[in-house]
Amino acid sequence: MSAGGSGDRHPVLAGVGGWLPSRVVTNDDLAAHLDTSDAWIRSRTGIGSRRFAEPGVSTGDLAVAAGALALKSSGEAQADAVVLATATPDHPLPGTAPQVAERLGLIGAAAFDVAAVCAGFVYGLATAGGLIAAGTARRVLLIGAETFTSIVNPRDRSTAVIFADGAGAVVLRAGRPDEPGALGPTDLGSDGGNHELIMVPGGGSRQRSSGADPGPEDHFFHMAGRDVYRHAVERLTSSSRAALAHAGWQVTDVDRFVPHQANAKISAAVADRLGLDADRVLSNIAEVGNTSAASIPLLLAQAGADGRLQPGHRVLLAAFGGGLTWGASTLVWPDITALTV
Ligand code: ACO
Repeated sequence: MSAGGSGDRHPVLAGVGGWLPSRVVTNDDLAAHLDTSDAWIRSRTGIGSRRFAEPGVSTGDLAVAAGALALKSSGEAQADAVVLATATPDHPLPGTAPQVAERLGLIGAAAFDVAAVCAGFVYGLATAGGLIAAGTARRVLLIGAETFTSIVNPRDRSTAVIFADGAGAVVLRAGRPDEPGALGPTDLGSDGGNHELIMVPGGGSRQRSSGADPGPEDHFFHMAGRDVYRHAVERLTSSSRAALAHAGWQVTDVDRFVPHQANAKISAAVADRLGLDADRVLSNIAEVGNTSAASIPLLLAQAGADGRLQPGHRVLLAAFGGGLTWGASTLVWPDITALTV
């Protein structure tokens, strides 16, 4: 990794890419083997279909695909650090990012994973931005990638209908704070007292050191949906307000709100509390479900590619996830070519 260097060290968005597996799974497909219905899923979550990775495809595979698109979008196949936000790494150890870096030809780049579940991408933005601000890296590839189908219990109707697979990535480069694409200050927070609301109970040192065998469902993802819903609305709203205040923006300054795609009702409730009109709120949950750390970069890539995000748009991002963790940030959308597959 190249170190330091003089000149401007503000993180600036230089490229964005999004990649989805080709396998479309509709609500009716799920209702064929789960006690649920298209009407229930649509009305409670806003989800109509989602993408599932094929057997044998890992988070690292999705991360490489999205990362390659983001590098291409940035115009340079080079980065001196790779940060991978994921809750579904290829292995418990080592991190998935070093192999992703190697597969992308970023030989010797600093590479590590960030584990903040659905808030991972916003935590990753702060981390990647910090690497640039400190002079540790000049260009950082930040990827959010998940194969949530690898941890969701296919028999649990309360989670199996929500979570899905996908990946999105951005390239941040060192630049000036007054350039389009310059990241605003990021608000981050956590509440570990509520860690049990979203968790995979088994497979870690807590369960192993207890000496007890894991239960048959302990390696699956568990979520207390109703409690999570309440916390998500509160934290997404308060973190968004904090990020706007740090940036010196009013709510009326926001052209596009890009919330983590947890549930369409959560996004609508947060927008309502913030006083944002629905036409300024971007969404893709109807077609992709909740892709956790991939959710925001995937939506940025799709909206950049289809014109919902235009150069000069003032953008507010906000995420909430297991931990509990949350975060929000701002930027002015730059003139870049977003790439999606
Ligand atoms: N189909 C039909 N019925 C269902 C389904 C389903 N897929 N899932 C649950 N139900 C039932 C429940 O069993 C329950 O039945 P009961 O009243 O007979 O007990 C009823 O529907 C209501 O269940 P709730 O869980 O209270 O339903 P709710 O309206 O709260 O919706 C949901 C559930 C969609 C999960 C919602 O709570 C939610 O979106 N929560 C937030 C999720 C979130 O934000 N996650 C992001 C963070 S996750 C992360 O970081 C990885």
